[in-house]
Amino acid sequence: MNVGVAHSEVNPNTRVMNSRGMWLTYALGVGLLHIVLLSIPFFSVPVAWTLTNVIHNLGMYVFLHAVKGTPFETPDQGKARLLTHWEQLDYGVQFTSSRKFFTISPIILYFLASFYTKYDTTHFILNTASLLSVLIPKMPQLHGITHTVNMLIFNKTAGVFFKPSRRKIYEVLGSFHFYPGKRFLHKLVLGIETSCDDTAAAVVDEAGNVLGEAIHSQTEVHLKTGGIIPPVAQQLHRENIQRIVQEALSASAVSPRELSAIATTIKPGLALSLGVGLSFSLQLVDQFKKPFIPIHHMEAHALTIRLTNKVEFPFLVLLISGGHCLLALVRGVSDFLLLGKSLDIAPGDMLDKVARRLSLIKHPECSTMSGGKAIEHLAKQGNRLHFDFQPPMQRAKNCDFSFSGLQHVIDKMIMQKEKEEGIEQGHILSSAADIAAAVQHTVACHIAKRTHRAILFCKQRGLLGQSNTVLVVSGGVASNLHIRKALEIVTNATQCTLLCPPPRLCTDNGVMIAWNGIERLRAGLGILHNTEGIRYEPKCPLGVDISKEVGEAAIKVPRLKMKI
Ligand SMILES: *[C@@H]1O[C@H](CO)[C@@H](O)[C@H](O)[C@H]1NC(C)=O
Ligand SMILES: *[C@@H]1O[C@H](CO)[C@@H](O)[C@H](O)[C@H]1NC(C)=O
Repeated sequence: MNVGVAHSEVNPNTRVMNSRGMWLTYALGVGLLHIVLLSIPFFSVPVAWTLTNVIHNLGMYVFLHAVKGTPFETPDQGKARLLTHWEQLDYGVQFTSSRKFFTISPIILYFLASFYTKYDTTHFILNTASLLSVLIPKMPQLHGITHTVNMLIFNKTAGVFFKPSRRKIYEVLGSFHFYPGKRFLHKLVLGIETSCDDTAAAVVDEAGNVLGEAIHSQTEVHLKTGGIIPPVAQQLHRENIQRIVQEALSASAVSPRELSAIATTIKPGLALSLGVGLSFSLQLVDQFKKPFIPIHHMEAHALTIRLTNKVEFPFLVLLISGGHCLLALVRGVSDFLLLGKSLDIAPGDMLDKVARRLSLIKHPECSTMSGGKAIEHLAKQGNRLHFDFQPPMQRAKNCDFSFSGLQHVIDKMIMQKEKEEGIEQGHILSSAADIAAAVQHTVACHIAKRTHRAILFCKQRGLLGQSNTVLVVSGGVASNLHIRKALEIVTNATQCTLLCPPPRLCTDNGVMIAWNGIERLRAGLGILHNTEGIRYEPKCPLGVDISKEVGEAAIKVPRLKMKI
């Protein structure tokens, strides 16, 4: 996701004013207008100058500030049609040379007109008013508001008044420093995430509006090296963090001064990566004298659902990704009970490893997919009944997970198949799709079973409400539809509601960090005004670990038909 960067050259209006030929034509046009007016017999020199000035400014107002989508039809079907030419100029970048040129030119004309009219009062007032009409709409603070003004002017006869949003008014007042208090009605938090291989930032307000976000993914680099190399990840974070934070801030049109706090992931994650985010954030905190909110990465994942859905505490959360696997009960913003976690690797990691072992990257349909995605794609074409893998930990009546044993079994199976089919490692087995389907199903059953037990445990102990029970599933693996279906069977059987944040919020992102900051700000939890001694923590459990108690309860899970 690249927010607020790529500009495609689809709008010819953005650059037309940049050519020196255009400037010359414009200057000659004004000169010509003046000569024509001078040559009209009953116009005196002062009248000709004032008329030149007023006509010029009227023309400029109409073409640059009033009519939208001009001068060329914009082929993008998009925003540009709603923007005046001035707003489209140079993609809206301020203080470019063409902007300066068209700001200075009416001023020069004004001085000339004032001089030749000998500062006569009537002429002076006319000229000044007309100058202001083309200068005021040029102020960057007024973009957007000019629409409103125009609408008011054009709509006055119809009696339809367009009410500018309160927010916009505060923004304009704020930028002029007329309004002494807070510019925004809501709290605003900047969130920064660097715990693994994505550099991400976002600004979110108290109502959960994402005002701006930006992300730089390192996946491509790490795919080439076959995994994340921490010093490489650190270097990439260093190279991108400033740009990403700046992009998120400028996309949101919020200046750092207006932030209520800065929230940053400080645990758990790769030490070198966390370090980059933390030191950058502390620099910002110091520079702008803002409170700092340290964020637990998994807590942020768990709370994301409250940004998109109305979910009350308590609820159950299952986090499954390439780096994490845990089940927890969320009782409050920072009140978690850990019910179970993976004892070895995470499910996403395991699926990636199986995909690599099957050389799916060489499969024509999967060459651009990540391992997990490739397995999901191929599984659709395979028959899972051709292989019989047992779900792990069937005898352990707790909510922990394990995937490396299963991975080992699958590796052995693949080796055996390669022997049978007489192909070498690195080539694609004819049964690859069947293996993919069986692996995916076994993983889904394992995850579903542990989650089922967690629901039963919480209900038995009265930890979840009897009605309106919610299971939230997040993390990269949550986007696997087969696994989601398996979980839906469980939630249907237990009268729970299954909720998943949208995919872009399931994977690592800055929005969830900023939102976690908002949640903490509202709850008044963990807001630091002094950052001395703050450290990142590569390893950090989430909440209070009660997985032993869960195991001791030894809840037997009724068998569910996993017909997916
Ligand atoms: C007048 O107002 C209506 C409704 O607010 C709007 O749709 C229309 O575009 C406006 N007309 C002009 C000329 O701005
Ligand atoms: C779960 O229940 C809903 C509504 O009763 C139904 O539409 C859905 O198909 C069920 N899902 C599964 C996987 O059985």
